[in-house]
Amino acid sequence: MSSSDALSDALAQLDALRAEGLAAFESAGSPEAVESARVEYLGQKHGRVKAAQERLKTLEPASRKGYGQRFNAVKTDLESACDAARSRVERKDVAVGAIDVTLPGIRPRQGHRHPLTQTADELIDLFGRFGFAVARGPEVEDVRHNFDALNIPPSHPARDPLDNFYLAVGGKSAPGGAGSPTGESAMLRSQTSTVQIRVMESQPPPVRVIAIGRVYRPDTVDATHSFMFHQVEGLMVDRGVTMGDLKSVLRLFARAYLGKDVTIRFRPSFFPFTEPSVEVDMLWHGGNRWVEMGGAGMVDPNVLRAVGYDPDEVTGFAFGLGIERLCMRRHGIDDIRLLYQNDVRFLRQF
Ligand code: PHE
Repeated sequence: MSSSDALSDALAQLDALRAEGLAAFESAGSPEAVESARVEYLGQKHGRVKAAQERLKTLEPASRKGYGQRFNAVKTDLESACDAARSRVERKDVAVGAIDVTLPGIRPRQGHRHPLTQTADELIDLFGRFGFAVARGPEVEDVRHNFDALNIPPSHPARDPLDNFYLAVGGKSAPGGAGSPTGESAMLRSQTSTVQIRVMESQPPPVRVIAIGRVYRPDTVDATHSFMFHQVEGLMVDRGVTMGDLKSVLRLFARAYLGKDVTIRFRPSFFPFTEPSVEVDMLWHGGNRWVEMGGAGMVDPNVLRAVGYDPDEVTGFAFGLGIERLCMRRHGIDDIRLLYQNDVRFLRQF
């Protein structure tokens, strides 16, 4: 072999070494693979680059300069390919490991008030602007506040045990009770009208309050009924309070809470504790279905007398509205049960 043939053969082998080495570093997918490619090509003792360096000595002195230059270039290329491969797999190692400092953080989800609580708070705010204070009463009531003082006599069908949750105190019927036919005198209140009595018993007129809270009735649960729901009760007693005041307050309230395009109507009805009594309905966004909001009326003189007010001095109006209904109408919720399941996927929307 001539010396020039020997040189070109040696240069071709350097080129092949370079190509194979670059491919090996590029395809190495783990720190271990990079290290074994490094040993194979750049290893101090048996590496192929080292062997290529040894070959210099076998060449004619005239060929050594050309070979040496090409060798240096190949060695530098493989060393930087090795460095690049090492930092590539190290970065990947961090990504599959415990901490990737480059990922965006997880924002803690902030809770908020339940839609029913939002509705209740808004009612307190709106009626507050009409001058109504907030009153409270117990959920476990006596039958006097739930019925007798509200002019609902013992024979009235509303007192039926099938329509109320009577409580046998201490496992027995409470003595002296005339609530249910079996004598229970404690119950879960079936209406917030109980708070009307409690407020009037505790203060002289004038009165202007709302009461918000849970009420209980043994209804079969479906999309529009629950054995527990919430009411807002309103009571205003003063000299010269009229049905006109009642209608204005409820109309103003409905427009403030539900929007200007809501219509409400009053239908004659009957409640033992109001006279005259009305049922209040709302009509939606040009819709064609009236939905009942609740009941209302002028406080019955018998009720005023029972709490020691003089019906010749003062008159009053009262109303009781379903909070779930208001909340559902406002938000377009079509199943009351959604409000009690505490599914955050639902609640997050409000
Ligand atoms: N308490 C009645 C009910 O639950 C509603 C009502 C309240 C009616 C006040 C008149 C006055 O159905």
